[in-house]
Amino acid sequence: MMDKLQELKAEIEKIKKQMAELKSLPEGQRQVEGQRLNALKKNAEAELFKFLNKQKQDEINSKLLNDKLIDITIPSYNGKTRVEGGALHPITKMMRRVVQIAVSMGFHVEDGREIVTEYENFDSLNIAKEHPARDIQDTFYLSNGMLLKTQTSALQNIILKKYGDELRKHGIISAVFPGRCYRNEATDASHEFAFFQCEGVMVGENISISNLIYVMEELISGIFETQIKIRLRPGFFPFTEPSFELDMSCPFCGEAGCPSCKHSGWIEFSGCGMIHKNVLAMGGIDGERYSGFAFGFGLTRLAMMKYGIKDVRLLNSGNIEFLRSIR
Ligand code: DAH
Repeated sequence: MMDKLQELKAEIEKIKKQMAELKSLPEGQRQVEGQRLNALKKNAEAELFKFLNKQKQDEINSKLLNDKLIDITIPSYNGKTRVEGGALHPITKMMRRVVQIAVSMGFHVEDGREIVTEYENFDSLNIAKEHPARDIQDTFYLSNGMLLKTQTSALQNIILKKYGDELRKHGIISAVFPGRCYRNEATDASHEFAFFQCEGVMVGENISISNLIYVMEELISGIFETQIKIRLRPGFFPFTEPSFELDMSCPFCGEAGCPSCKHSGWIEFSGCGMIHKNVLAMGGIDGERYSGFAFGFGLTRLAMMKYGIKDVRLLNSGNIEFLRSIR
């Protein structure tokens, strides 16, 4: 038995054949018969079109009915236990939060490379060849002489060069660049060989320490969703002059003293300072005309503080129970 599709096709073929034979009919009859066959052919073709459309629709419907559609965001039940949906890693959450606040303040966001040159990681930051900082920040060297960056500061040079033209055109550059850093560390509850930092720079014609203070106060208050005070202590970094250690008022006790701030009311947050003229020069920026600040803080440490994580090693452990406990 012919199926419907073949039937419809055969019908059209038959009409076409009849049409080909029209020539042999006498003139008057040919016209009448021609019109009749044309109408028949149109009808048959419309019928075929309708049939094919319905066939396609049926196919889609049966696929939708039979296929298992997987939505990874819906907690599901596998018959025995509830299966939880996925969630963001605490560091990812913290990074996104910092970036969101920085962007709302007009900062560009740069995707920090993990592999950099020795020049970018040390020389361009005014760290002399024999400076002890190179020892403290011992890291993993690749066979091509490049290394896994020990600090997000390693991207300062790249960013100053990248945005130099924009600075000369618009008078300001500001960027944050979070990323993974590496150091040759013996791991324990507070040390990991891979960890995250976030760096920021702002350079312009009249950028001063007041701008640094304001930006940091806004940024940290945004992160902790409460008004935070900051204070600067003198510090030393070869790439800033002057350099500071920046403390924030404890967001957990409001300076009353608690275990988080070791009962001092203050927590060390970041290193910062005014970018050294040599660093600006190596980035192709005229240090006579422009000035800027830089800051760098530990994102990993910040995530631990914010989510009450006591052992840094848990963050890289892939321990699902732990990750689920951080919501
Ligand atoms: N790179 C420094 C570190 O890893 C942190 C730092 C200090 C970054 C001062 C800065 C800065 O931008 O100005 O210890």
